[in-house]
Amino acid sequence: MEPYSLRGQICQLTPFSPADTQRVFDYCQDAEIQRWTRVPVPYRMEDAAVFTTSTAQKGWDGIGFDHAREWAIRIPGRDGKPYLAGGIALTPQPPGNSAEVGFLMAADCRGRGLATDALNTVVAHAIYDLSMRRVVWQAIVGNWASRRLAVRCGFKVEGTIRSQVIIRGQPADAWIGTILAEDLAKDDGYWTEDGRVRLWD
Ligand SMILES: CC(C)(COP(=O)(O)OP(=O)(O)OC[C@H]1O[C@@H](n2cnc3c(N)ncnc32)[C@H](O)[C@@H]1OP(=O)(O)O)[C@@H](O)C(=O)NCCC(=O)NCCS
Repeated sequence: MEPYSLRGQICQLTPFSPADTQRVFDYCQDAEIQRWTRVPVPYRMEDAAVFTTSTAQKGWDGIGFDHAREWAIRIPGRDGKPYLAGGIALTPQPPGNSAEVGFLMAADCRGRGLATDALNTVVAHAIYDLSMRRVVWQAIVGNWASRRLAVRCGFKVEGTIRSQVIIRGQPADAWIGTILAEDLAKDDGYWTEDGRVRLWD
């Protein structure tokens, strides 16, 4: 599949490129990202390079359902150029009417509603454009920033799954939440009368 971009109310969601490697390396040094996501620790420049040149591209190659569509979250920078604020991924789950979302924001881009905009955009895209019945969110137990974000965007927290993820070799429990089409507010600005999201560049 050709990579495509989505337009949020603040953020542009566009594919990653090799030019993002330095910025990805820089923001992945953050302790919160290393604590709550599965990035390698220590995080090396070659990890960032593998992500921007390979991992982030794979999902667009259309090889099966287990590949994530990865978007860079970009905002207008002070120099007028897009500034990389984080990443968000949508991974379709078999048999194809559900998808899981994952995200992270650079520390200097948190607490401004940018992640909220990016998550709302991807959820609306999944449900309205891709006809997904459900989007799933998971976070390691204790990740309240992620949970607040998910709830703010309309996810219902369903419970805790024990030993759901392996983080650097250690099993960890995870919260799980879901959002369905009927949970979306029709007047939230992420939906239009013809049932599609105003997303395409
Ligand atoms: C989880 C994470 C993406 C959340 O990002 P965030 O910056 O808190 O999310 P937002 O940009 O939507 O900001 C929301 C916060 O800004 C505030 N805010 C300010 N302006 C806002 C606006 N216009 N709209 C919404 N929220 C706004 C909100 O009140 C909220 O604060 P609160 O969480 O204390 O209630 C971020 O903490 C992160 O990257 N953590 C490390 C990686 C990680 O945990 N990833 C998730 C793995 S499951």
